[in-house]
Amino acid sequence: MIGPEAPVRRSPEGSEAAARAGRELRKRYAAADLRVFTRDEASRFIPRGEGDPQEDAGLAWELLYRIEPELYDRLSNAEPLHPGVVDWLPSDVDLIAEVAAGTGRLTMELIERGRRIVAVEPALPLRRILRSKLAAADHGTRVRVIPGFFDQLPLPDDSADLVVACSAFTPSPGHGGEAGLAEMERVCRPGGYVAIIWPNHLDWLAARGYRYVSFPGPMSMEFVSYQEAVELAEIFYPEAAGAVRGRGSRRVPFDLLGVNPPRDLAFRLLAE
Ligand SMILES: C[S@@+](CC[C@H](N)C(=O)[O-])C[C@H]1O[C@@H](n2cnc3c(N)ncnc32)[C@H](O)[C@@H]1O
Repeated sequence: MIGPEAPVRRSPEGSEAAARAGRELRKRYAAADLRVFTRDEASRFIPRGEGDPQEDAGLAWELLYRIEPELYDRLSNAEPLHPGVVDWLPSDVDLIAEVAAGTGRLTMELIERGRRIVAVEPALPLRRILRSKLAAADHGTRVRVIPGFFDQLPLPDDSADLVVACSAFTPSPGHGGEAGLAEMERVCRPGGYVAIIWPNHLDWLAARGYRYVSFPGPMSMEFVSYQEAVELAEIFYPEAAGAVRGRGSRRVPFDLLGVNPPRDLAFRLLAE
């Protein structure tokens, strides 16, 4: 099931929906696939040197990013952020550091908001997709895409006006944790913002001084076609796949999938 380490799918933790969400994904990978991790990745995702993606949805997601990155990209392309979230972020700033940038769902929205963007992403296959998207949009030089982890950001102290992560940070050490939050705050300049978009551990963040904002309105997943909606629902939302098929539409309300939409963020303004 999706445990506390799973970085995505906002099902209420411990809910039935959370338990079901990773079933089909977990079936796609085996323990032998863990060989794809670099040493640095293994030290975070399988600290005891072993794990089973058939049992651990968090590991299955990490394998997805490395073994089938295009499949992940198809999913995230269908989950646009609420425009209120993007509008809320600071704009006209010098440097934005995005951690866990993936294939650029948020990165592409940040381009107009900062003079320089640094996108940190540990998974090489996702970095490749992000670089090719940026090149295709003629933004290859404005955004620097570099490897790195929450708990070891390759950026100087007090350097960014905004340090942000979307659909990635959790309190677990492998996916952020105390060390990851401290790193994000180290890199953020006094008077700058640290923001966690689509957060799923609100109490944990609130206890560390993070405030919460959520934007209202109905939200749907927007697949490129009805066929794509059905195919991806069968993998990522198997319990809802029948309902998705029955709707006959490329648009699928998040409510029907049983997950919270990407409409919220937690943030902290660092004291000057
Ligand atoms: C669900 S994806 C989100 C990607 C992107 N931010 C988006 O919104 O589409 C989670 C991302 O977290 C990254 N990630 C996982 N563990 C990480 C870590 N310890 N440090 C930095 N990034 C990490 C993954 O490689 C992946 O890109």
